[in-house]
Amino acid sequence: MRIAVVHGPNLNLLGRREPEIYGSTTLTEIDAALRRLGGELGADVDCFQSSHEGALVDFVHEAAADGLIVNAGAYTHTSIALRDALAAVARPYVEVHLSNVFARERFRHRSLLAAGAVGVVSGFGPGSYTLGLRALVEHLNRTR
Ligand code: DQA
Repeated sequence: MRIAVVHGPNLNLLGRREPEIYGSTTLTEIDAALRRLGGELGADVDCFQSSHEGALVDFVHEAAADGLIVNAGAYTHTSIALRDALAAVARPYVEVHLSNVFARERFRHRSLLAAGAVGVVSGFGPGSYTLGLRALVEHLNRTR
């Protein structure tokens, strides 16, 4: 089973970006934890980060994945292009956020991606990614 992980804008700065909101774990550490967990769950995990909307769209098109974990960062709230790309490839995905977006500014309460997702995990720091990966693998094992 192959899982693609998509990280959107500014997530490359994790560890030093607003640590009171996003914590001190770096993206490299999150990706390593996901690969490790993927190994335990029988999934190959391929991680990609970009701050460019089009690069994220291209990655979604080209990812040879059975499912995706998506933290689109701010594009969650704005990107019809990313929503359409995820709909076009028609692969199950789980939307994840480090912070609890519903406990933050109103503009973060709306997600353009959530309606097409298997589910959403928000507010558990790096645990949102690992919970999301477990949930996605379970979903794929159940439905494929
Ligand atoms: C985020 C939440 C978004 O609102 C924000 O723009 C991010 C990170 C999160 O992981 O909590 O960049 O997706």
